[in-house]
Amino acid sequence: MSKSIVIHETGGPEVLRWEESSPKKLQPEEARVKIHSAGVNYIDIYFREGLYPAELPMTPGLEGSGVVESIGDKVTQVKPGDRVAWASCRGSYGLTVNANAQSLVSVPDNISLEIAAASMLQGMTAHYLTYGVRETKPGDTALVHAAAGGTGLLLVQLLKKAGATVIGTCSTEDKAQKVKSAGADHVILYSSEDFVAKTKEYTNSKGVAVVYDSVGKDTFDKSLKVIQPRGLMALFGQSSGPVPPFDLQRLNQGGSLFVTRPSLFHYTSDRSSLEHRAKEVFSAIENGLSIAIGRTYPMEDAAEAHLALSSRKTSGKLLLIAPS
Ligand SMILES: NC(=O)c1ccc[n+]([C@@H]2O[C@H](COP(=O)([O-])OP(=O)(O)OC[C@H]3O[C@@H](n4cnc5c(N)ncnc54)[C@H](OP(=O)(O)O)[C@@H]3O)[C@@H](O)[C@H]2O)c1
Repeated sequence: MSKSIVIHETGGPEVLRWEESSPKKLQPEEARVKIHSAGVNYIDIYFREGLYPAELPMTPGLEGSGVVESIGDKVTQVKPGDRVAWASCRGSYGLTVNANAQSLVSVPDNISLEIAAASMLQGMTAHYLTYGVRETKPGDTALVHAAAGGTGLLLVQLLKKAGATVIGTCSTEDKAQKVKSAGADHVILYSSEDFVAKTKEYTNSKGVAVVYDSVGKDTFDKSLKVIQPRGLMALFGQSSGPVPPFDLQRLNQGGSLFVTRPSLFHYTSDRSSLEHRAKEVFSAIENGLSIAIGRTYPMEDAAEAHLALSSRKTSGKLLLIAPS
């Protein structure tokens, strides 16, 4: 028998239950991985709440790291004993996972399994936002909402490395210090300050070339007002709720603006793009990218981690650690 967090019905954090489960039969293209750490991501909350549909019962979690135990007949990418990490294997909140070997990447020897689990989903997201949805160039200006979050702190660092001037928003002074330490040029406390006025002030009324908005409902509308003509809105999340339908004519009025609603899974959908982004993130870590692990929890305390994430109390990455 194995153990995992199981959801039998969608709902609040209390639906996450630590239960015994029998491992599923390994398919020819799968590898069974003994999990070391699982990353907690906002998308796990969307699945738990039912905002994103999934067949029940299900074990949540898409991200993690561990060691390969065994492989199916057709697996060539990894072998037993390999240290691996992933960003898209459903069922990562458990002791083991049967992962499609295509979605596993090797972890370099000098990177710990904790750091690997903490950097896959949010790190590759920060990477495709910096280089994929548009190529960041020196002189660009970017506004990053929820900049003290797991994704936000990484995005600020990568944008700075690419030469952009970065304005970050967050809700508390404590978080603002972390955003500053990540390298942001300006920080706006959007819970008490008007981020439209402040962004205009910091850009001499020009606005920014791009807004990275993971907050959604509470920030989307105002964010459109701080984008330069022909600039981009990258709406990549909805931590405050989904953005309601809006009039496309507003893109014209705002200055021929562009909007994209991207997903990491479309920027790592084939093996070569996954390997490329993972390699870039690991190499950035080796060259000083700081992975801030906000807190670790025992795997069975997934509910506590979810509650902390959705109540805006966290900064950086949350990890669930499997019992050894
Ligand atoms: N599309 C993609 O490829 C992709 C990939 C990764 C993540 N995401 C999305 O990016 C977002 C951030 O994910 P994350 O895992 O890095 O989480 P996170 O940013 O660490 O946590 C969410 C943060 O959002 C802010 N927030 C603002 N209003 C909120 C509200 N009403 N409720 C809760 N939080 C609120 C809070 O920061 P303040 O307290 O500073 O406001 C909170 O700490 C999520 O929406 C996630 O789905 C998308």
